[in-house]
Amino acid sequence: MIGIFDSGIGGLSVYREIRKLLPQEDYVYYADNAHCPYGEKTREYIIARAREITETLIGKGADIIVVACNTATAAAISTLRAEYPIRFIGMEPAIKPAVAVTRSGVVGVLATAGTLKAEKYRHTRDTMHGDVVVVEHIGQGFVELVESGETSGPHAEEVVRNSLKPLLDEGADTIVLGCTHYPFLTDVIRKVAGPDVTVIDPAPAVARHLMEVMQEEGLLAGSESTDASFSGPEPAGSGLTGKRTGHSEFISSGPDTVLKKMAARLNL
Ligand code: DGL
Repeated sequence: MIGIFDSGIGGLSVYREIRKLLPQEDYVYYADNAHCPYGEKTREYIIARAREITETLIGKGADIIVVACNTATAAAISTLRAEYPIRFIGMEPAIKPAVAVTRSGVVGVLATAGTLKAEKYRHTRDTMHGDVVVVEHIGQGFVELVESGETSGPHAEEVVRNSLKPLLDEGADTIVLGCTHYPFLTDVIRKVAGPDVTVIDPAPAVARHLMEVMQEEGLLAGSESTDASFSGPEPAGSGLTGKRTGHSEFISSGPDTVLKKMAARLNL
């Protein structure tokens, strides 16, 4: 079972890409919305949340966990990898693909304060940018917009413009979405940035990486075809020899209204 977590519904932007690739897997998604946003919290706070959530997900049966949150990846993934005997897949800010496509030679990164100041992000940026200039801005207020379900309209445009415009003014023609909440604002971001700007969401690459790791570890549904505990007939039409059926469970530490709404909107 694949466990996925984020400070809220942002990780659903990663989950939807994973599910496209691996529809037959079982999932448990944890939205830590009682403690959202993570962006301004201390590293110690995020590590404590990540441990607690990891234990909940493992308790539910997760045998691999996707940290579908750039801020939590930057703060906590090395601790999680050192403390738990399962694989963790994190979010990588897509500096490398952005550097490959920029024509202006300026890449803009939008992320939370926590991600931008983290050693992990800075290391990725400094080793990947080559001759390209990387400019950064906090997506101020973006997480709050998404968590309140406001992903379009004049107010959302104004909030997005305030953080995006400084990057465009510096000449960025490629914008990296360095927070998993931001892809839900892609339409607004495109509208503000205009047609010549490329917007990069790392979620599809993370989903492909997860699939490779699961293949390597023998965790993909169907890899347990010799599992003696499976004795029933194959689920009709699933094409599977294993016992997983593509079931998803959604858990949240706070009210689940927005999570349910977004999951329904995305057909998840
Ligand atoms: N979605 C998260 C990220 O990718 C965290 C947003 C927040 O809680 O501040 O960084």
